[in-house]
This record gives sequence, structure tokens and C-alpha cells, in this order.
Amino acid sequence: MPETRTAGVTGLGMSVPSRVLTNHDLEQMVETNDAWIRERTGIRERRIAASGESTSSFAFEASLRALNAAGLEPAEVELIIVATATPDMLFPATACLVQHQLGAKRAAAFDLEAGCSSFIYAMAVGAQFISTGCLRNVLVVGADTLSKITDWRDRSTCVLFGDGAGAVVLQPVEPPRGVLSVVLRADGSGADLLKMPAGGSRLPTSEETARSGLHHLVMNGREIFKFAVRAMGEAAAEALRSGGLKQEEVDCFIPHQANVRIIDALAKRLCLPPEKVLINVDRYGNTSSASIPIALYEAVSTGRIKSGSLALLVAFGAGLTWGALALRY
Ligand SMILES: CC(C)(COP(=O)(O)OP(=O)(O)OC[C@H]1O[C@@H](n2cnc3c(N)ncnc32)[C@H](O)[C@@H]1OP(=O)(O)O)[C@@H](O)C(=O)NCCC(=O)NCCS
Repeated sequence: MPETRTAGVTGLGMSVPSRVLTNHDLEQMVETNDAWIRERTGIRERRIAASGESTSSFAFEASLRALNAAGLEPAEVELIIVATATPDMLFPATACLVQHQLGAKRAAAFDLEAGCSSFIYAMAVGAQFISTGCLRNVLVVGADTLSKITDWRDRSTCVLFGDGAGAVVLQPVEPPRGVLSVVLRADGSGADLLKMPAGGSRLPTSEETARSGLHHLVMNGREIFKFAVRAMGEAAAEALRSGGLKQEEVDCFIPHQANVRIIDALAKRLCLPPEKVLINVDRYGNTSSASIPIALYEAVSTGRIKSGSLALLVAFGAGLTWGALALRY
């Protein structure tokens, strides 16, 4: 039986499209305004993929950067998990496309879909392979291009989302570093609150589904808002409890970047001071599975997270799904 090890983050990377879509640009597209979007969401601008770009474009670039940061060759990677709700195709897995582009010839590869919680789920799965002693080099990528399934005529959703990817390399690390605790939850009774109705086996693509716009994301924003604050609050508290950690030990709190009002309500509920809460939703919008790894990357590259810092990651999303992960960097 292999020995038990702790999995930690040893390299990070991110990639976003170069095209910036501001709130003022959106004013030309739908009946909205910059003040409404900023006040209700905190978002000022987001990055939108070009027509030739797809989820794998950003997943690949973020992966390459994470591998370079970890000093790891693609041939040394043993597993690639791409967390995404907007894969390049229904199949094959986007992880296989990334594996091929990287030349990661020894790696297994699969996608993991848990809405905007996908990255936390994928980190948890990747960390398991390391802590059981099965693998040493795992690449976990959070990547989404929600712009590709957004209804650009629907002002209640099109202002919210952006595209991009973030990637981490997981390897065995020495305690006290590493993944200290994980909480994962789901409740499918809320499946209708956030979904893309057509394009799967229930409602296969047809002229009728295309005409009816059923290949777009639909959402009950108010219900999702309420769920988000409660679920993330509970998961974050449980992750601290199960890791034997206190809320005041958290150096950097990284919630899923969906809406600044959700983040503020959550931080208040957890009694976390604003200076410990990472917010970049103003610059990227909600990038779904990419939001936490992008925020983690920025926290590390700006020195907000240093070696030994305690980061608390927490997410919610379609499914419904939610989860939290405590990480000693
Ligand atoms: C979507 C969200 C920003 C809407 O904010 P809200 O305060 O709940 O706003 P409401 O939906 O109650 O709408 C209020 C009004 O603004 C209008 N409105 C909606 N979108 C608008 C826009 N982009 N610009 C201007 N007005 C808009 C509505 O039509 C409504 O008008 P009415 O009162 O005349 O009917 C908010 O509910 C939210 O962030 N929910 C969570 C969504 C989320 O995080 N999803 C991702 C999950 S991973």
C-alpha cells in the first residue's frame, strides 16, 4: 500500500482572451447601463473569446504557464483534469485536447463538470490521487467560455459572464503545506435554477431547439443569489472545522467570483475583514470554473498569498453544487 502524502499547489498559470468587453460596450448591445451593472454585480468589464478561440485555447495556455512555474515537463504529467461546463465539444473531453497540445504523452485526461464549483471538485479529485500515493504530478485546470452559450439579447444574464482559464500543478508537499480539508456538496432539486436546456440527450439539438434559443444559459438569478450566500457560508465554515482551523487563521479568502454583493454578504457572514477577501470580478466577470484558479494565481503573483499562507477557496454553481477547500500554500 503506497504511503499517504499531502497534495499541494506547486505551480500556477492563467490565460484570458485579449478582447475586453466593458459595461459601456454592453450599453450598445442591450438595454442596460454601467451604473446598474456595477451596483448590482460589481463588474466593470470582462474578457470575451474570439470566434476561433474555445475553452481548450485558454486551458492550454494556462496549463503551459502552470507547468513552467512548477518546473515540470509535459511528459512528466500523469493526470490532467479540466474542470469545465463549456467543453470544446460534448466529446471527446477537452482534457484530451489539452493533453495532446501539451504533448503530455504519459497523462490520463478527463473533464469534470460541476457547474461553477467544478474547479474545487477537480482539485479535490486531483489531491486524492496524490494523497493515496498513486500519482505525483497532476494538472488541474478550470476553464470556461460561457460567452459561447450566452444569449446576448438577454440583459439579465449577458452582463454577468466572462471567459478564461486558470491552472494549478498539484504535487506531494511537506506538511504543514497542502490541501488541509475539502467539502463537496450537491442538490439536484435545484437543477432548473441554472441550466442550458438543449444540446444533451434530453433535448438533442434540432432546428426547433436552435430556433427557440434553448442552447443558451438560463438562470433564476434571485434564487441563485440566496442559495449562493447560504451554501458557500456553510461549506466554508465546515472546511475550517474539519481542517481544525480557525476563521482568524485565514490569510486570503477566495470565493467564486460571481457577484460582489454575494461576496460581501458571504464575508460578513464569516466575519472576514475586507482586506482578506480577494475580489477580481470587476475585471473578469464570472468566469465560471476559471474564477477561483485565476483569483488564486493573482493572489500568489501579487504576494497576497505567500509560502505558508492559508487560503480558503469556496464555490457554488449549477447542479446545484457547492464546496470549499482549505489550502496552506
Ligand atoms: C442577476 C442579478 C445580478 C440580478 O440582480 P437583482 O438585484 O436580483 O435584480 P432583479 O433580477 O431583481 O432585477 C431587478 C430589475 O433590474 C432589471 N434588470 C435585469 N438585468 C438588468 C440589466 N443588465 N440592466 C438593467 N436592468 C436590468 C430587471 O428586469 C428588473 O426590472 P423590474 O424590476 O422592472 O422587473 C442577481 O440576482 C445575481 O447576481 N444573482 C446570482 C447570479 C449568479 O451568481 N449566477 C452564477 C451562478 S454560478
